[in-house]
Amino acid sequence: MTKLVVCPETDPTRPLLDTTDPAVITAHLAGIGVAFEQWRTSGPLPDSADQDAVLAAYASDVERIKAQGFGTVDVARLAGDLDDPAFLAKAAEARSKFLAEHTHADDEIRFFVEGSGAFYLRVGGSIHMIVCEAGDYIFVPKNTRHWFDMGTRPRFAAIRFFAIPEGWVGEFTGDPIASSFATYDELVGAGR
Ligand SMILES: [Fe+2]
Repeated sequence: MTKLVVCPETDPTRPLLDTTDPAVITAHLAGIGVAFEQWRTSGPLPDSADQDAVLAAYASDVERIKAQGFGTVDVARLAGDLDDPAFLAKAAEARSKFLAEHTHADDEIRFFVEGSGAFYLRVGGSIHMIVCEAGDYIFVPKNTRHWFDMGTRPRFAAIRFFAIPEGWVGEFTGDPIASSFATYDELVGAGR
C-alpha cells in the first residue's frame, strides 16, 4: 500500500505524519513541489512483457507526460527469482547505487507499473519517505536531495521520463543521512 511518513531530518524516530490516504499524500507532496498521481493500472505485468508492451499499455499517460517536455522514456524493471543467490547479488548491487543522498540535474519522474520502492526526499528540514506502489506516478524536481531504496528483495518496474540526456546521473552529496532513516524493508514491515 502506498504510504507517506515524514520525520524531521534531525529525528528519524519522531514521525510528523504517517499516512496511507492518497488524498493526504498528494496534498502533502504538492506542498513541497512534488507531483504525485495515481494512474489506472492495466493489471499484472506478464513476465514476458518487454519495454514496448509496457509503454503501449500506458500510451495515453505516457504521451501526456512526454508533451510536458520529457521526450525520452524507458522502462526499468528488476524482477527475478528471490531464491537465486545470483539474482540477489545483482539486486544488492542495483540497490546500492542510489541508496545514499544525491541530486540530479534532471527531474526524476517515475511511474510504477509493478511492485514498489521507496523515495526519500529531503525538503524543508524534513525527510519525506514515500513507498510507491504499482499505479503511482511521482515527479521529483531536479536538484532535490533524495535517495531511493528498493529493498533487499526487490521487484518493481517503472516507466522513467527524461528531459535532459544523462540528467539522471547521480551527484552524491557525501552526507550519510540516509543510513539514519528506516530502510524500505522497515517501512513496509514484515510480510515481504
Ligand atoms: Fe535519484
